[in-house]
Amino acid sequence: MTIQSSVPEQLEPPLVGPRSHDAFRRARRVFPDGTTRVTIERDPIPRYMSHGRGAYLFDTDGRKFLDLNANFTTLIHGHAFAPVIAALEQQLRDGTCFANPTEKEIELAALICERVGGIDRIRFCNTGTEAVMFAIKAARAFTGRPGIAKIEGSYHGAYDWVEVSQAGTPETWGSPNEPHSVPYYKGMPASILSEVVPLRFNDSQGAVHQIRRHAASLAAIVLDPMPSRAGLIAPDPSFITALQDVAREQNVLIISDEVLNFRQSFNGAAARYGIEPDLYALGKIIGGGLPIGAVAGRAAVMEMFNADNNKPAVPQGGTFSANPMSMTAGLVAMQCLDQSAFTHLERLGEALRTRLVQAIERWQIAFSVTGAASLFRIHPKRYAPRDFRDAFCSASEAAVMKELTRFFAAEGIILPSAATACLSTPMGKAEMDFIAQVFEQFLASQAQRLEWSPT
Ligand SMILES: Cc1ncc(COP(=O)(O)O)c(C=O)c1O
Repeated sequence: MTIQSSVPEQLEPPLVGPRSHDAFRRARRVFPDGTTRVTIERDPIPRYMSHGRGAYLFDTDGRKFLDLNANFTTLIHGHAFAPVIAALEQQLRDGTCFANPTEKEIELAALICERVGGIDRIRFCNTGTEAVMFAIKAARAFTGRPGIAKIEGSYHGAYDWVEVSQAGTPETWGSPNEPHSVPYYKGMPASILSEVVPLRFNDSQGAVHQIRRHAASLAAIVLDPMPSRAGLIAPDPSFITALQDVAREQNVLIISDEVLNFRQSFNGAAARYGIEPDLYALGKIIGGGLPIGAVAGRAAVMEMFNADNNKPAVPQGGTFSANPMSMTAGLVAMQCLDQSAFTHLERLGEALRTRLVQAIERWQIAFSVTGAASLFRIHPKRYAPRDFRDAFCSASEAAVMKELTRFFAAEGIILPSAATACLSTPMGKAEMDFIAQVFEQFLASQAQRLEWSPT
């Protein structure tokens, strides 16, 4: 299916102000491309922010934006959340990090263990990347096997094995029945590529076939229940059942990477989709806006980190792991994230996605919407994609997304262009009206140029 697009070569002048331009000039002198995160969006330069309050961000040129990025879905309570600030002010005075444990870490751990049925034990680290890395190491130690299977196109942070097939293209991803292991960075060792089996999301038959074929070398299936970069597509219940059955049959563990999707319910994402993981990787919202990661799961597998006899199967430490600042912010943020907060987010998300789809149908323009709970993605495709290959944007589709993002920015909304958009608890009907109205305006402005594809 193709989109009919005639995006003009000369787009509007960029909507980034002079202070951002000045900052970027200085930044280019000290960073290889002027930024320190590959994920920073630039159009053509990044927008520098001054501060955030609740659902809104303010740039250094004084413009106000509704923030649908929320630091890549981290800030579920929005910016500068008062209860977290109050708790952190006290913790700052009491000290920011010690080479000893604090009681705060027990409280945050207990809260998570109580909420998630599949979590008996947990260990804290500093990022989602580390959480995924330690989960994979624990799975290797537990099973005695080195390899992993993962969903093509899904993002799990910067550990080499999960970077494989994170960003394939039609030229590199291989046949649907046997997806290639696609390197992510120049020089990625062939040995790593050979230890990763890419699976296609929602392809039960293909996944079962590949797992059975490679089972002797597989420690775990790393599964994000709704992989954001692969399209934020809901898992088919039959796909979940097939993966679980084949994993049990072959003694391969399931790692649920909920670094992003833990925000899908009070009990996390696996509970929502009927997954029974052996291990979880957590991050983002459980840190209340400060750096955090956590590896968690069944007691028997988490025993791999047990250092009671001096030599754990998997040593896990970290200078800043479980630092009291992250523990404090995480504890307060999670305590405030009660059942009613999730109900609020669920209702907002459902209502917004419905309104976006209704607008698309009214204007008959080739867009679709995926997502669940407080998360959504707009695709420049007439039919909602079913996997990463479906969701992959051609050059013209990417240009449409860029134009959409620009339009939103011009109207005062930060909408991630190739990533997941999210809602936060300080948002309400006014913000949903704002988003729906700006999308409607965009569709109206494009009605002559972008139409349903004839196919
Ligand atoms: C599903 C998933 N796993 C892992 C990570 C890595 O987390 P971090 O950026 O904290 O290292 C991310 C980050 O976006 C993620 O979305």
